[in-house]
Amino acid sequence: MSTQNNEQVTSQMAMDLEYRYGAHNYHPLPVVLSHGEGVYLWDVEGKRYYDFLSAYSAVNQGHCHPKIVEALTMQAKKLTLTSRAFYNNVLGVYEKYITEYFGFDKVLPMNTGAEAVETAIKLCRKWAYQKKGVGEDKAKIIVCENNFHGRTTTIISFSSDSEARNQYGPYTPGFITIPYNDTGALAEASKDPDVAGFLVEPVQGEAGVFVPDEGYLSEAYRLCKDAGALFIADEVQTGVARTGKILACDHENVRPDILILGKAISGGMYPVSAVLANDDIMLVIKPGQHGSTFGGNPLAGRVAMAALEVVKEENLCERSQKLGELIRRELKAIETEMISVVRGKGLLNAIVIKPKNGKEAWDVCLEMAENGLLAKPTHGDKIRFAPPLVITEEQLMECVEIIKKSVLAFS
Ligand SMILES: Cc1ncc(COP(=O)(O)O)c(C=O)c1O
Repeated sequence: MSTQNNEQVTSQMAMDLEYRYGAHNYHPLPVVLSHGEGVYLWDVEGKRYYDFLSAYSAVNQGHCHPKIVEALTMQAKKLTLTSRAFYNNVLGVYEKYITEYFGFDKVLPMNTGAEAVETAIKLCRKWAYQKKGVGEDKAKIIVCENNFHGRTTTIISFSSDSEARNQYGPYTPGFITIPYNDTGALAEASKDPDVAGFLVEPVQGEAGVFVPDEGYLSEAYRLCKDAGALFIADEVQTGVARTGKILACDHENVRPDILILGKAISGGMYPVSAVLANDDIMLVIKPGQHGSTFGGNPLAGRVAMAALEVVKEENLCERSQKLGELIRRELKAIETEMISVVRGKGLLNAIVIKPKNGKEAWDVCLEMAENGLLAKPTHGDKIRFAPPLVITEEQLMECVEIIKKSVLAFS
């Protein structure tokens, strides 16, 4: 079999190969995709689907966006990687662009979301020792129950999901877990003088799209200020227009002390993540104290600038806001006991499925795939709906019909 031409690979062959040669750390829907454009994906047999996951909100700009492809291919022919041992002629331009775009003094470029979260944790701890005067190795970071911040050893150390955590110990200490959406608990926990920061997802995506009460983020920010702790927003999933504003924190006019971005800052074209902060925080890290071979490479810089430009040029915030309201209204109007909850913000939404006649969220997803729409259950009974933000109103209404037909098939 040629490694360059996959034309002859059928769905069954592709699934068998993954099972035989790949680690079994995922349980995908049985669909084998071979190309994508905008809101659509096609499987190897040529069947077309609406993408309602967007690679966990990485493909906000739509699949294979021509402007981002152009940036990637142009730069790929010139220079892809220098490491940070030398300067390159793209990184500084990208750093200026992204810091002005999000309104921070400095950026620290990384590749994946988890790496950016790790970077933010390290930055927060170092800041606590140098600026807050916390005793060596005493710094604590407050986190929330049901968080999802990635898969590294430190990050899963403060996960409350046993699947993500069990048998990966010993765990990294230094984290205090409190309930999400609970400012009373935050006020109490932040009395500890060794608290360096509060790490929070403005909407808990992986947990099943939990939207906190209005005012939660601004009050949490205020409590952090009172406690002399850093407010760290993980916007890896919620950022870049997904919730109807460029950042989910913007809904409450909160500017985080440390902002973590990933996924859609590259439109899903390439792994690019970033940590943003102002000088008083970012400059506590000195040369040699943190880094990454690929972080800040010229290919990543070009791709991210193109992807962020698309967000503005195509008014993705406004689309996400408007179409989000529409989809929630339409989903709530579906008459079935199987959908017990509809919730979300912008185009990051979820339904909770009440099993009926032994049919669960997984079965609904299989039925939706059969009917031409791809979504995936999260934590058993929830299905996230996060289409690319370039979706039109007409396409969205077609998707609502597919969802309705699929759920009603079991009702
Ligand atoms: C809020 C949040 N943080 C971090 C991550 C980890 O990102 P990555 O998978 O790129 O490491 C994710 C991934 O889903 C996420 O949703």
